[in-house]
Amino acid sequence: MDPIHICGGYSLDGETWVQGSKNAVLPILAAAVLTDGITTLTHCPRIADVHCMLRLLRSIGCMVEWTDGRIVIDARQITSVSLPEEYVTRMRSSVILMGAVLGRKRRVTISYPGGCVIGKRPIDMHLKAFSHMGVQLCENGNALTAWTKRLVGSEIALPFPSVGATENVILASVLAEGESVIRGAAREPEIEALCDFLVCAGADIVREEDGGTIRIRGVERLHSCTYRIPADRIVAGTYLLGCMAAGGRIRLRGTDAGALGAVLDTIRQMGGECECGAAEITLTAPERPRAVPYIRTAVYPGYPTDLQSQLLAALAVADGDSVVEETIFENRYRVVPELCKMGADIQIEEKKAVIRGVRELRGCAVTAQELRGGAALCMAALAAKGDTYIGNRHFIDRGYEALETDIRSLGGRI
Ligand code: EPZ
Repeated sequence: MDPIHICGGYSLDGETWVQGSKNAVLPILAAAVLTDGITTLTHCPRIADVHCMLRLLRSIGCMVEWTDGRIVIDARQITSVSLPEEYVTRMRSSVILMGAVLGRKRRVTISYPGGCVIGKRPIDMHLKAFSHMGVQLCENGNALTAWTKRLVGSEIALPFPSVGATENVILASVLAEGESVIRGAAREPEIEALCDFLVCAGADIVREEDGGTIRIRGVERLHSCTYRIPADRIVAGTYLLGCMAAGGRIRLRGTDAGALGAVLDTIRQMGGECECGAAEITLTAPERPRAVPYIRTAVYPGYPTDLQSQLLAALAVADGDSVVEETIFENRYRVVPELCKMGADIQIEEKKAVIRGVRELRGCAVTAQELRGGAALCMAALAAKGDTYIGNRHFIDRGYEALETDIRSLGGRI
């Protein structure tokens, strides 16, 4: 696949609409399996991960139609409970289909979803929660089978607010007997979207105002519904940080600033001026971003790990030294050597990235190692003087539906 070619060193000036959220649509596609009806989703991002999830839904008997941003799923006939290894290992978030298929059919077989370059990505919390609900687990080789006669709601205390584990427990609980209470649940906006969708389909879910406790009362069935996928806050944050790196002024339409609180605070600290309208954000970047003495990634509402690499790209050209600590994944600095090829001065010291801001980056050939690091390289390329070629673009296509169109609309040369 041809590399992405960006001619950088020019400030941005433009606007774009923000795509639908990858991390909202994937669990909601899994949730569609729980309905014995027709689910219509609009504003879905046309990305590789959605394509992969639709292949998985078809493999268990769902009828699926995908036209532009609209996906229609008919889940009235679930004919299999075995998820094919080929697709499961390609996308680890397929693990959330476990909860959905268990919830609907009380049985599921799945191969262990692979880890990936950012971490080993275990699913121990998911499996422990299922056991609490009466689920038997049996491994043979790389395949894992989970089954139970009765799926019973129970009190689940998550030792860490894992997004995937929270989603899987919700999905397994909506058609279970009795009530599940999740304590220490993840608070990400994508969890709220999943709950909104499920309630729209007839589920009985209450999120306590701090978001950390979720009560799910089992119901008999879920019915058809139509739901619009919210904007992707990570894609929006990516472009904001790209503008901080390259300079200029951009407007993002259709995005909810509320979901980007910690990111906007950091951008303001770097000298960016943000105006947040009803469903848009306008950013005017400073001539050169200010450094951030120390920032760490954290679970929501903290600074999101999915925007950590993109922050490194912006801080690489900041006026001063910054320290970024990644606390969610154990190996999420894969982009650093590639940024250093472009002239960045970043060292990893005791699991922290120490960034010494340089006046400018220079274009060259770099290679994406994973999704968000690849997007960060594109943002750095907008700032770098000259031509940058980003290889392995398939990683970026997993989460960005129209990177070229978006960057052109924002005034970049790609
Ligand atoms: C979701 O992954 C997102 N993916 C990730 O986005 C995001 O980085 C992550 O949440 C954190 O916000 C989707 O929503 C599809 P976790 P998930 O379970 O659910 C450990 C992107 O770029 N853990 O909250 O896998 C785990 O190893 C992707 O869009 C266990 O130890 O994240 C990690 O260190 C990347 N045991 C930490 O918790 C478990 O059973 C956070 O994982 C589960 C998780």
